[in-house]
Amino acid sequence: MTFHPIRPKDRFLVFGSPMIGQEEIDEVVASIKVGWLGTGPKVARFENDFKIYKGASHAVAVNSCTAALHLSMLIAGVGPGDEVITTPLTFCATVNAIIHAGATPVLADVDRISMNIDPEQVLAKITPKTKAILPVHFAGRPCEMDRLGEIAQRYDLMIIEDCAHAIETEYKGRKAGTFGDLGCFSFYVTKNVTTGEGGIILTDKKPYADRAKVLALHGMSSDAWSRFSDQGYKHYLVTEAGYKYNMMDIQAAIGIHQLERVEPYWIKRKTIWEIYNRAFAGLPVIRPAEPGPGTRHAYHLYTLLIDKAKTGIGRDEFLCAMDRHNIGTGVHYLSIPEHPYYRQTYGWDPDEYPHARDIGRQTVSLPLSAKLEDQDVEDVITAVRTILA
Ligand SMILES: Cc1ncc(COP(=O)(O)O)c(C=O)c1O
Repeated sequence: MTFHPIRPKDRFLVFGSPMIGQEEIDEVVASIKVGWLGTGPKVARFENDFKIYKGASHAVAVNSCTAALHLSMLIAGVGPGDEVITTPLTFCATVNAIIHAGATPVLADVDRISMNIDPEQVLAKITPKTKAILPVHFAGRPCEMDRLGEIAQRYDLMIIEDCAHAIETEYKGRKAGTFGDLGCFSFYVTKNVTTGEGGIILTDKKPYADRAKVLALHGMSSDAWSRFSDQGYKHYLVTEAGYKYNMMDIQAAIGIHQLERVEPYWIKRKTIWEIYNRAFAGLPVIRPAEPGPGTRHAYHLYTLLIDKAKTGIGRDEFLCAMDRHNIGTGVHYLSIPEHPYYRQTYGWDPDEYPHARDIGRQTVSLPLSAKLEDQDVEDVITAVRTILA
């Protein structure tokens, strides 16, 4: 029998393809023509726009969320001898940031339904060495910030939020990234707002923002923006051994216009999410949990759980089948203890975190970009139904 893919090969639906407008293109070209490619006025504008959008006091743009997380660890005073509690259902960068700060990551399993870190599991993992909690608002759904806040206060712990999925996320009227001491965002190409690569740190504490600026640019006391302004030459003075984590104006040029469209893009993804939910209602798969009351979901990922016992097809076979239909998918994520480095270094076993293990082995993320056209959404639905039929 000949196999007929739902989409032709030359129309492969790339997972997470960004929606880039003419304004972004024109702004990048303008930056190139002016010649200010590195950190400059557009980064300053993007920081200000993002800070206003989130209602935070300070924003420091960097070149990735990974950099934002690493700097936040250092700013929070996390270092050798400290433990930081985070989720096993996350991208490796979350855990690596803790390791790069010299501290020890400790995992607390997720809630099976919300897929977010379970505050009671966090409580069980606290030791005298615990310095901070690093929650991830998975897929754009906010964590239980009231309970995490209570725990942090009781044990005098810092909270650093990984908001890579959570640009539009809100919890009880408050925006993600403003609960903790520091909030870290990603503008990677698949994210809800992109700068190609990029990240930002939010904080309400000026000394934290000042230190982030210094650490993000080699530890220099004044950045290239003020050094190369028209106020005359200024020496830079290195006050600590920093990093090369600054964002470029070319990146901010994209982000400024992406951020202007954050709301219509959110509405578009919400609509697709609801279409998927209706389309898959009768299938033997688990759809994402409804957003919690009093919260705003960022609709960053739409995930299905594929349980072979119910569908007759395993998750990995499903991924391959989608690929054969020329539809790109993602896996967010194989649980952290599945990776050899962490198993070998920390002796972690996936079975100790059964919820993250099961989700990681069954989850598949379907395309959910604002760029999707009606036909793309139709194709995804037809492919899923055909494969599971
Ligand atoms: C949960 C989470 N944390 C951190 C990161 C790292 O972000 P970046 O690629 O901007 O460094 C990602 C990126 O995919 C992520 O999904």
